[in-house]
Amino acid sequence: MIIAVDGPAASGKGTLATGLARHYGLPHLDTGLLYRAVGLAAAETVDRPEFEAAAIAAAQALDATQLTDLDALTAAETGVLASKVAVIAQVRTALFDFQRDFALQPRGAVLDGRDIGTKICPDADVKLFIQADSKARMERRARQLEARGVAVDRYALFHQIEERDARDMLNPNGGFYKARDAHLLDTTQMSIEAALRAAIEIVDRVMALKAGG
Ligand code: CDP
Ligand code: CDP
Repeated sequence: MIIAVDGPAASGKGTLATGLARHYGLPHLDTGLLYRAVGLAAAETVDRPEFEAAAIAAAQALDATQLTDLDALTAAETGVLASKVAVIAQVRTALFDFQRDFALQPRGAVLDGRDIGTKICPDADVKLFIQADSKARMERRARQLEARGVAVDRYALFHQIEERDARDMLNPNGGFYKARDAHLLDTTQMSIEAALRAAIEIVDRVMALKAGG
């Protein structure tokens, strides 16, 4: 079973994907980490003409050992770098096989990101598109950072998330839109537990329909 979970920044897709993976005993890949690792590797050249070539080289050389420094990878500034490398077509192509191979493990997998249901796994068994309003998403990300001892300027964070969402949605190479067969889940008013229950209900319903039909 392949489950695709897509959605904008801090919508709760990672938390949900982790919960689904645990519930169904499947491996999980947070694909945002790949773009974040590439962004970090090319950080020194950001906004310079060499940035594109540095990002492509980093994407082609990426390996799993670069996905472990979660403090650096999940920093808000790294998210901005990630969205800058994510508009480069050759970066996306270089990261495609890693994601596709992960999805095609014999046991199945859960992947979360922006284009899982549209580009990486258009054949996924179940697709979820997670939404939450921008203010709720900013507040969630702010609390997540504060819990790690990072000081947060909410005004700046709100604008940073809006800018990143806009770049992702307008990314011509991105595939960030709700797939026709994706199930929309708005978690604005939902606790983590309620969102997970709702997602499990959708997955069980879709799988039962498939088994029956
Ligand atoms: O992966 P994504 O950026 O979409 O979001 P996340 O890292 O899963 O969630 C961002 C933060 O929101 C985390 O601290 C979650 O615990 C929190 N969250 C929440 O408060 N309510 C939800 N329904 C989902 C996530
Ligand atoms: O957790 P959050 O939603 O804040 O970000 P993320 O999922 O770690 O993704 C960081 C950035 O990587 C996004 O803003 C996108 O620009 C890019 N990304 C992408 O283009 N395609 C994916 N499948 C995952 C991430």
